[in-house]
Amino acid sequence: MVAASTEEPILLQTEDGSPTLYSPRFDEHYHSTRGALSESRHVFVENGLATLYHDEKPPSALRVLEYGFGLGVNLLVAIEWALPRALHLDYTTLERYPISPDLLAAAHFRVEEEVARLWRSAHEAPWGVRQNVGAVLTLEKVQCDFTEYTPKAPAFNIVFFDAFSPTRVPEQWRTELFSSIKQVLAPHALLVTYSASGVVKRALRAAGFVVKRRPGALGKHHLLQAFVE
Ligand SMILES: C[S@@+](CC[C@H](N)C(=O)[O-])C[C@H]1O[C@@H](n2cnc3c(N)ncnc32)[C@H](O)[C@@H]1O
Repeated sequence: MVAASTEEPILLQTEDGSPTLYSPRFDEHYHSTRGALSESRHVFVENGLATLYHDEKPPSALRVLEYGFGLGVNLLVAIEWALPRALHLDYTTLERYPISPDLLAAAHFRVEEEVARLWRSAHEAPWGVRQNVGAVLTLEKVQCDFTEYTPKAPAFNIVFFDAFSPTRVPEQWRTELFSSIKQVLAPHALLVTYSASGVVKRALRAAGFVVKRRPGALGKHHLLQAFVE
């Protein structure tokens, strides 16, 4: 375990061998303790990126908007998936509490060397600057309160909505926020989230999304996909 202050997250190992963080501030884990990598792959790749990707007519690039950068596990699995497909990711991620270099240094994932290298470079990249990280990734990390932030660049293809749970932070799962997100999405864009709570479903529908339930990760019943028509 690594912890630098009472507010700082604590690094711990999940059951699939990958690390996650526990947040004392929110009293919540960043991922399922049954497997951080497994959960991110299931929710944000298999039910996210893969849903938008068709082998017959593969896109050359996708614009991703993420709510909650955290440990960057979603970015890592996105890179892992995009690399062999030569798919370019234009990735904007929002985070209020960036984690410390000490915590990052202690976090290790059993993935291809190139994927781990790009993930570290992404963490080391400065905040508030849009930049290329290797050939497959254009990255902008924005430090902000995402409930008050209006994304500038329009036409995102996919949103990774990865806030802490709606029971812990209900104000982060409101219709108003989902409506403002919808304004910056491309036609047929997808918002994907691990939560399938009724409150979230209703808020997404009220914001004008078409919501589908899919099997959740690691024993969770469901997750949600929300589409722009
Ligand atoms: C479930 S974790 C995200 C995990 C992350 N996507 C990953 O792959 O490691 C939720 C994240 O939301 C961030 N967060 C909490 N409240 C926030 C706010 N108001 N604005 C921006 N980020 C916030 C937390 O610091 C945390 O990193």
